Amino acid sequence: MDSFSRFYKKTVEERKNILKELSLYDESLDYVEDDNFFNHIIENFVTTYEVPMGVMPNLLVDGIYYHVPMATEEPSVIAGASHAAKIIERNGGFKVESINREMIGQIIFRDIINPIEFKQQVESLSENIFKVAYDAHPQIHQIGGGLKRLSVEIKSKQFVTLYLIIDTKDAMGANTINTILEAVGNFLVLETQEKVLMRILSNLAIYSLVEVSCKINVTHLKNSNEIGTLIEEASIYASIDPFRCATHNKGIMNGITALMLATGNDTRAIEASAHAYAAITGSYQPLATWRYEEGYIHGLIKIPLQVGTVGGSMNVLPKAKLARKILGVHDAKTLMKVAAALGLAQNFAALYALTTDGINKGHMKLHARSVALQAGANESNIDIVVNHLIEVGHVTLDEAIKFLNTLK
Ligand code: HMG
Repeated sequence: MDSFSRFYKKTVEERKNILKELSLYDESLDYVEDDNFFNHIIENFVTTYEVPMGVMPNLLVDGIYYHVPMATEEPSVIAGASHAAKIIERNGGFKVESINREMIGQIIFRDIINPIEFKQQVESLSENIFKVAYDAHPQIHQIGGGLKRLSVEIKSKQFVTLYLIIDTKDAMGANTINTILEAVGNFLVLETQEKVLMRILSNLAIYSLVEVSCKINVTHLKNSNEIGTLIEEASIYASIDPFRCATHNKGIMNGITALMLATGNDTRAIEASAHAYAAITGSYQPLATWRYEEGYIHGLIKIPLQVGTVGGSMNVLPKAKLARKILGVHDAKTLMKVAAALGLAQNFAALYALTTDGINKGHMKLHARSVALQAGANESNIDIVVNHLIEVGHVTLDEAIKFLNTLK
C-alpha cells in the first residue's frame, strides 16, 4: 500500500512517522538554530522568519518516486501540486526529455576603441585563459568541472564581453565562477591594457536547461469531453498575452520556488533566470505549454534551473539539510529534473482548476484554514470554523472571529 495515501489527512506527527519509516526524516535536523548562529549568516540580524515546509508525495519522474519538500506560505500550492502529480502518476509520470548544465560568466570590457582588434586579441589568448582559470580554481577542474568554452562578443557603445562557460558540478557555483572571472579579468587587463567594467556570473542560464514532459489521458479528468481543448487554449492564450503569461509562469514558480527555498537554493537566481528565459525571444512566453491530440493532453516544460546540492547556505542551514534528506537527491541534475516536473505539475493543477471549477473553490477551502487560524481557532475547533466559512461563503477574518465568539 502507498505509505502516502491520504497523507494530507494525517496529523503532523503521523506524517513525520511515515517519512521516518522510509528513512526520509531525521529529527536531529528538525530544530531551530539560535540567534548567535543566524547572526553569522546575514548582516544586522534581528530575528528569524518562519515559513511552513510541507511534503508533496509521489512525484514520479523517469520511473522514480520523489517526495518533495516545499517551503511556502501560500495555501493550495502543495494541494494543487499533489493533485496534479497524482493524476500524472496514473498516466505514467513525467519524462525527462533533455538536460544540460553549465553556468555562464561575463567579463565586460568598456571603452574599447577598436573592438574587432580587441576581440581577436582576446581570442588569441584563449590557451592562457584556460590556464589562468585552472590556476584560479584547481579543485573544480580536478573533479572534471571548470572552464569549458569561451566566446567574445562585440556589444554596442564600445563594450566587448568575454563569456566563460563553466561547469560547477553539483554546486550552484557563484563563488567558483566569480573566482575564475576575477582571475581571468585581471590577466586580460595586464595583457591588453584595456579596462574591465565588471566580472560576474549571468543569471540567464541558457546552458542549464531542462525539458520535462507528461501525457494525460482526458478520460481520467473531469469535463473530459472538452478539457483537452480548454487546457490547450489556456496554453495558447498565455503565448499571446503577457498579462496572462506572467500569471501562468507565476503558477509554475509557485512550486519550483517552494522547492528551491526548502533546499537552500537561491530563489532569486532561479526566478530571474526563468523569467529572463521566458522573454528571450523578445516576446514573453509560457515556460510550460500544453497541446491536445487524440484524447491525450501533452505537457512540456523547458526551463533554466541554476540549482545546487552542495555549497552555499545549503550545507549550513539544518532545515535545508532536512529537506534534502526528505527529497533524497544528491546531485544537481536530478534536482533540476524534479523541480521542472514539479513546475509542470503545478501549472497543470492551476490550468485544470481555472478551466473547470475556477481557482476559488479549492483555494477558498484552504484559505479558510489560515483565516480561521488568524481568528484564533485551535486544533479543537478549526474544522468547525472552516466548514462554517465555506458554508456561508464569506471567508473573511470578521466572519471567522464572529463565529468563533458564538462557539465560546
Ligand atoms: P479537488 O478536486 O477539490 O480535490 O481539488 P479533491 O479533494 O478531490 O482531492 C484531489 C487530490 O488533491 C487529493 O487526492 C490530494 O492528492 C490533493 P486524494 O489523496 O484525496 O485521493 N489534495 C490535497 N493535498 C494536500 N492537502 C490538501 C488537499 N486537498 C486535495 N488539503 C485542489 C482541490 C485544491 C487540489 C484543486 O482545486 C487545485 O488543484 N487547485 C489549484 C490550486 C493552485 O493552483 N494553487 C496555487 C495558488 S493560485 C496561484 O497563485 C496560481 C495561479 O494564478 C496560476 C495560474 O493562473 O496559472 C492559479
